[in-house]
Amino acid sequence: MSNKQPRGEVIHGDIFDVAPGLPQGKAALVYIDPPFFSGRKRSNRSDGPSYDDRWPGGLGEYLAFLRRLLESTQPLLKANGVIALHLDWRAAHHGRIELERLYGPNAFVNEVIWSYRTGGLSKRWLGRKHDSIHVFASGKDYTFNLTREKSYLAHRYGFSNVEIKEDEHGAYTHTALRDVWEIPALRGNQREYVGYPTQKPLALLNRLVGCFTNPGDLVLDPCCGSGTALVAARQSGRDWLGVDAGNDAVQLALRRLSEAVM
Ligand SMILES: C[S@@+](CC[C@H](N)C(=O)[O-])C[C@H]1O[C@@H](n2cnc3c(N)ncnc32)[C@H](O)[C@@H]1O
Repeated sequence: MSNKQPRGEVIHGDIFDVAPGLPQGKAALVYIDPPFFSGRKRSNRSDGPSYDDRWPGGLGEYLAFLRRLLESTQPLLKANGVIALHLDWRAAHHGRIELERLYGPNAFVNEVIWSYRTGGLSKRWLGRKHDSIHVFASGKDYTFNLTREKSYLAHRYGFSNVEIKEDEHGAYTHTALRDVWEIPALRGNQREYVGYPTQKPLALLNRLVGCFTNPGDLVLDPCCGSGTALVAARQSGRDWLGVDAGNDAVQLALRRLSEAVM
Protein backbone atom coordinates (compact mmCIF):
# COMPACT_ATOMS: atom_id res chain seq x y z
CA MET A 1 0.00 0.00 0.00
CA SER A 2 1.14 3.52 -0.75
CA ASN A 3 0.90 5.95 2.19
CA LYS A 4 1.26 9.16 0.22
CA GLN A 5 -1.78 11.35 -0.46
CA PRO A 6 -2.96 10.97 -4.07
CA ARG A 7 -2.30 14.09 -6.18
CA GLY A 8 -3.25 15.29 -9.58
CA GLU A 9 -3.93 17.95 -12.12
CA VAL A 10 -6.45 18.67 -14.88
CA ILE A 11 -5.22 20.71 -17.83
CA HIS A 12 -7.38 22.62 -20.29
CA GLY A 13 -5.87 22.26 -23.75
CA ASP A 14 -5.49 20.25 -26.89
CA ILE A 15 -3.61 17.06 -26.04
CA PHE A 16 -1.39 17.52 -29.09
CA ASP A 17 -0.09 20.81 -27.66
CA VAL A 18 -0.04 19.64 -24.04
CA ALA A 19 1.49 16.14 -24.35
CA PRO A 20 5.14 17.18 -25.01
CA GLY A 21 5.16 19.10 -21.69
CA LEU A 22 3.72 16.27 -19.57
CA PRO A 23 5.92 13.94 -17.48
CA GLN A 24 7.38 11.37 -19.87
CA GLY A 25 7.31 7.66 -19.03
CA LYS A 26 5.35 8.03 -15.79
CA ALA A 27 1.74 6.89 -16.35
CA ALA A 28 0.92 3.35 -15.23
CA LEU A 29 -2.42 3.53 -17.04
CA VAL A 30 -3.32 5.70 -20.01
CA TYR A 31 -7.10 5.51 -20.46
CA ILE A 32 -8.30 7.06 -23.72
CA ASP A 33 -12.01 7.63 -24.33
CA PRO A 34 -11.88 9.81 -27.45
CA PRO A 35 -14.70 10.95 -29.75
CA PHE A 36 -16.08 7.76 -31.34
CA PHE A 37 -16.53 8.90 -34.98
CA SER A 38 -20.28 9.37 -34.46
CA GLY A 39 -20.42 12.23 -36.97
CA ARG A 40 -22.32 14.45 -34.51
CA LYS A 41 -21.81 17.29 -32.14
CA ARG A 42 -22.22 15.55 -28.78
CA SER A 43 -24.42 17.32 -26.26
CA ASN A 44 -27.27 16.31 -23.98
CA ARG A 45 -28.88 19.77 -23.85
CA SER A 46 -28.61 22.69 -26.26
CA ASP A 47 -27.23 24.92 -23.46
CA GLY A 48 -25.14 22.16 -21.83
CA PRO A 49 -21.55 21.03 -22.27
CA SER A 50 -20.66 19.60 -25.66
CA TYR A 51 -17.80 18.37 -27.79
CA ASP A 52 -17.40 17.93 -31.51
CA ASP A 53 -17.33 14.49 -33.10
CA ARG A 54 -17.77 15.61 -36.73
CA TRP A 55 -15.14 14.76 -39.34
CA PRO A 56 -15.70 16.56 -42.64
CA GLY A 57 -12.76 14.61 -44.09
CA GLY A 58 -14.47 11.30 -43.23
CA LEU A 59 -12.80 8.20 -41.84
CA GLY A 60 -9.37 9.24 -43.13
CA GLU A 61 -9.42 12.40 -41.06
CA TYR A 62 -10.67 10.54 -37.98
CA LEU A 63 -8.01 7.84 -38.26
CA ALA A 64 -5.29 10.46 -38.61
CA PHE A 65 -6.57 11.98 -35.33
CA LEU A 66 -6.67 8.60 -33.58
CA ARG A 67 -3.18 7.69 -34.76
CA ARG A 68 -1.82 11.03 -33.62
CA LEU A 69 -3.56 10.64 -30.26
CA LEU A 70 -1.97 7.24 -29.67
CA GLU A 71 1.45 8.39 -30.88
CA SER A 72 1.48 11.53 -28.74
CA THR A 73 0.49 9.67 -25.56
CA GLN A 74 2.81 6.66 -26.03
CA PRO A 75 5.87 8.44 -24.57
CA LEU A 76 3.85 9.27 -21.43
CA LEU A 77 3.30 5.60 -20.58
CA LYS A 78 5.86 4.05 -18.25
CA ALA A 79 7.70 0.81 -19.04
CA ASN A 80 5.34 -2.05 -18.15
CA GLY A 81 2.39 0.33 -18.23
CA VAL A 82 -1.03 -0.28 -19.72
CA ILE A 83 -2.97 1.64 -22.34
CA ALA A 84 -6.75 1.21 -22.59
CA LEU A 85 -8.47 2.58 -25.70
CA HIS A 86 -12.26 2.88 -25.42
CA LEU A 87 -14.28 2.88 -28.69
CA ASP A 88 -17.45 1.35 -30.12
CA TRP A 89 -18.52 -0.43 -33.33
CA ARG A 90 -17.72 2.62 -35.43
CA ALA A 91 -13.94 2.55 -34.96
CA ALA A 92 -12.94 -0.08 -32.38
CA HIS A 93 -11.51 -2.35 -35.11
CA HIS A 94 -9.33 0.47 -36.43
CA GLY A 95 -8.21 1.33 -32.89
CA ARG A 96 -6.95 -2.17 -32.26
CA ILE A 97 -4.95 -2.18 -35.49
CA GLU A 98 -3.38 1.17 -34.58
CA LEU A 99 -2.44 -0.15 -31.13
CA GLU A 100 -0.88 -3.25 -32.69
CA ARG A 101 1.09 -1.08 -35.07
CA LEU A 102 2.46 1.04 -32.23
CA TYR A 103 2.89 -1.50 -29.43
CA GLY A 104 3.19 -4.76 -31.39
CA PRO A 105 0.74 -7.71 -31.52
CA ASN A 106 2.30 -9.33 -28.44
CA ALA A 107 1.36 -6.31 -26.34
CA PHE A 108 -2.32 -7.25 -26.50
CA VAL A 109 -3.79 -7.95 -23.04
CA ASN A 110 -7.58 -7.86 -23.38
CA GLU A 111 -10.50 -6.60 -25.36
CA VAL A 112 -12.88 -5.68 -22.56
CA ILE A 113 -16.49 -5.58 -23.71
CA TRP A 114 -18.59 -3.13 -21.76
CA SER A 115 -22.16 -4.36 -22.24
CA TYR A 116 -25.12 -2.11 -21.38
CA ARG A 117 -28.86 -1.93 -22.00
CA THR A 118 -29.65 1.60 -23.09
CA GLY A 119 -32.92 2.28 -24.93
CA GLY A 120 -33.37 2.58 -28.68
CA LEU A 121 -33.64 -0.27 -31.15
CA SER A 122 -33.41 -0.81 -34.87
CA LYS A 123 -35.55 -2.95 -37.15
CA ARG A 124 -32.48 -3.61 -39.30
CA TRP A 125 -29.87 -4.94 -36.88
CA LEU A 126 -29.34 -6.31 -33.41
CA GLY A 127 -29.05 -3.75 -30.64
CA ARG A 128 -25.53 -2.31 -30.70
CA LYS A 129 -25.15 -2.25 -26.95
CA HIS A 130 -21.50 -2.65 -26.19
CA ASP A 131 -18.25 -0.71 -26.33
CA SER A 132 -14.78 -2.23 -26.70
CA ILE A 133 -11.87 -1.26 -24.49
CA HIS A 134 -8.62 -2.47 -26.07
CA VAL A 135 -6.00 -3.06 -23.41
CA PHE A 136 -2.32 -3.24 -24.45
CA ALA A 137 0.80 -3.28 -22.26
CA SER A 138 4.17 -1.63 -22.88
CA GLY A 139 6.04 -4.53 -21.23
CA LYS A 140 5.49 -8.07 -19.97
CA ASP A 141 5.60 -7.07 -16.28
CA TYR A 142 2.54 -4.84 -16.34
CA THR A 143 0.31 -4.70 -13.25
CA PHE A 144 -2.62 -7.08 -13.24
CA ASN A 145 -4.73 -7.51 -10.12
CA LEU A 146 -6.88 -10.59 -10.48
CA THR A 147 -10.39 -9.55 -9.52
CA ARG A 148 -13.25 -11.84 -8.61
CA GLU A 149 -16.96 -11.36 -9.09
CA LYS A 150 -20.12 -13.07 -7.92
CA SER A 151 -21.42 -15.67 -10.34
CA TYR A 152 -25.01 -16.67 -9.52
CA LEU A 153 -25.88 -20.35 -9.84
CA ALA A 154 -28.89 -21.75 -11.66
CA HIS A 155 -28.41 -24.96 -9.59
CA ARG A 156 -25.99 -26.36 -7.03
CA TYR A 157 -24.96 -29.60 -8.78
CA GLY A 158 -21.32 -30.12 -9.70
CA PHE A 159 -19.87 -27.51 -7.32
CA SER A 160 -18.64 -29.94 -4.64
CA ASN A 161 -15.17 -28.38 -4.26
CA VAL A 162 -16.15 -24.71 -4.58
CA GLU A 163 -17.48 -22.58 -1.77
CA ILE A 164 -21.11 -21.60 -2.39
CA LYS A 165 -22.36 -18.43 -0.70
CA GLU A 166 -25.79 -16.89 -0.64
CA ASP A 167 -27.22 -13.37 -0.68
CA GLU A 168 -30.63 -11.82 -1.40
CA HIS A 169 -30.30 -12.72 -5.12
CA GLY A 170 -29.53 -16.39 -4.55
CA ALA A 171 -26.57 -18.78 -4.36
CA TYR A 172 -23.27 -17.75 -5.93
CA THR A 173 -19.59 -18.60 -6.22
CA HIS A 174 -16.69 -16.18 -6.66
CA THR A 175 -15.17 -16.50 -10.12
CA ALA A 176 -12.35 -14.65 -11.83
CA LEU A 177 -13.58 -11.60 -13.72
CA ARG A 178 -14.10 -12.24 -17.44
CA ASP A 179 -13.63 -9.77 -20.26
CA VAL A 180 -17.35 -9.04 -20.68
CA TRP A 181 -18.50 -6.47 -18.15
CA GLU A 182 -22.21 -5.96 -17.72
CA ILE A 183 -22.40 -2.51 -16.16
CA PRO A 184 -25.47 -0.25 -16.47
CA ALA A 185 -24.97 2.92 -18.52
CA LEU A 186 -25.53 6.15 -16.59
CA ARG A 187 -29.06 7.46 -16.24
CA GLY A 188 -29.92 11.12 -15.83
CA ASN A 189 -31.22 10.65 -12.30
CA GLN A 190 -28.06 9.06 -10.90
CA ARG A 191 -26.05 10.99 -8.34
CA GLU A 192 -22.77 10.63 -10.22
CA TYR A 193 -24.28 11.98 -13.46
CA VAL A 194 -23.06 15.53 -14.18
CA GLY A 195 -24.70 15.94 -17.59
CA TYR A 196 -21.55 15.50 -19.67
CA PRO A 197 -22.28 13.90 -23.06
CA THR A 198 -21.04 10.29 -23.24
CA GLN A 199 -20.02 10.40 -19.56
CA LYS A 200 -18.92 6.91 -18.53
CA PRO A 201 -20.03 5.15 -15.32
CA LEU A 202 -17.65 5.18 -12.39
CA ALA A 203 -18.20 1.44 -11.86
CA LEU A 204 -16.54 0.80 -15.25
CA LEU A 205 -13.50 2.96 -14.51
CA ASN A 206 -13.21 1.64 -10.94
CA ARG A 207 -12.81 -1.83 -12.36
CA LEU A 208 -10.31 -0.84 -15.04
CA VAL A 209 -8.18 1.19 -12.63
CA GLY A 210 -8.39 -1.59 -10.01
CA CYS A 211 -7.35 -4.35 -12.45
CA PHE A 212 -4.39 -2.58 -14.07
CA THR A 213 -2.89 -0.20 -11.46
CA ASN A 214 -1.87 -0.12 -7.81
CA PRO A 215 -2.31 2.64 -5.21
CA GLY A 216 0.34 5.32 -5.77
CA ASP A 217 0.38 4.80 -9.57
CA LEU A 218 -0.40 7.58 -12.04
CA VAL A 219 -3.54 7.38 -14.20
CA LEU A 220 -3.51 9.62 -17.28
CA ASP A 221 -6.62 10.49 -19.28
CA PRO A 222 -5.82 12.73 -22.29
CA CYS A 223 -9.50 13.18 -23.29
CA CYS A 224 -10.86 13.27 -19.75
CA GLY A 225 -14.28 14.85 -20.33
CA SER A 226 -16.05 15.07 -16.98
CA GLY A 227 -13.14 13.22 -15.36
CA THR A 228 -14.61 9.78 -14.63
CA ALA A 229 -11.24 8.00 -14.84
CA LEU A 230 -9.62 10.70 -12.69
CA VAL A 231 -12.28 10.34 -10.00
CA ALA A 232 -11.84 6.55 -10.04
CA ALA A 233 -8.08 7.10 -9.62
CA ARG A 234 -8.43 9.60 -6.80
CA GLN A 235 -10.98 7.53 -4.89
CA SER A 236 -8.70 4.50 -4.94
CA GLY A 237 -5.45 6.23 -3.98
CA ARG A 238 -3.90 6.68 -7.43
CA ASP A 239 -2.48 9.95 -8.77
CA TRP A 240 -4.32 11.44 -11.76
CA LEU A 241 -3.57 13.65 -14.73
CA GLY A 242 -6.36 14.77 -17.05
CA VAL A 243 -6.40 16.84 -20.21
CA ASP A 244 -9.39 18.04 -22.20
CA ALA A 245 -9.84 20.54 -25.03
CA GLY A 246 -13.19 21.69 -23.59
CA ASN A 247 -13.34 24.19 -20.75
CA ASP A 248 -16.75 22.89 -19.56
CA ALA A 249 -15.28 19.40 -19.34
CA VAL A 250 -12.32 20.59 -17.28
CA GLN A 251 -14.55 22.57 -14.89
CA LEU A 252 -16.78 19.53 -14.37
CA ALA A 253 -13.80 17.25 -13.82
CA LEU A 254 -12.30 19.66 -11.27
CA ARG A 255 -15.62 19.89 -9.42
CA ARG A 256 -16.05 16.11 -9.32
CA LEU A 257 -12.47 15.66 -8.12
CA SER A 258 -12.95 18.21 -5.33
CA GLU A 259 -15.94 16.18 -4.12
CA ALA A 260 -14.25 12.78 -4.51
CA VAL A 261 -12.93 11.19 -1.35
CA MET A 262 -10.99 8.00 -0.82
C1 LIG B 1 -15.94 10.57 -25.03
S1 LIG B 1 -15.57 12.12 -24.31
C2 LIG B 1 -14.81 11.66 -22.76
C3 LIG B 1 -15.85 11.33 -21.70
C4 LIG B 1 -15.25 11.00 -20.36
N1 LIG B 1 -14.58 9.69 -20.37
C5 LIG B 1 -16.29 11.04 -19.26
O1 LIG B 1 -16.56 10.01 -18.62
O2 LIG B 1 -16.84 12.12 -19.03
C6 LIG B 1 -14.22 12.64 -25.32
C7 LIG B 1 -13.53 13.89 -24.88
O3 LIG B 1 -12.40 14.11 -25.72
C8 LIG B 1 -12.15 15.51 -25.73
N2 LIG B 1 -11.22 15.80 -26.84
C9 LIG B 1 -11.43 15.67 -28.16
N3 LIG B 1 -10.34 16.03 -28.86
C10 LIG B 1 -9.39 16.40 -27.94
C11 LIG B 1 -8.06 16.88 -28.04
N4 LIG B 1 -7.45 17.04 -29.22
N5 LIG B 1 -7.39 17.16 -26.89
C12 LIG B 1 -8.01 16.99 -25.70
N6 LIG B 1 -9.27 16.56 -25.54
C13 LIG B 1 -9.96 16.26 -26.66
C14 LIG B 1 -13.54 16.11 -25.87
O4 LIG B 1 -13.58 17.46 -25.47
C15 LIG B 1 -14.36 15.17 -24.97
O5 LIG B 1 -14.52 15.71 -23.68
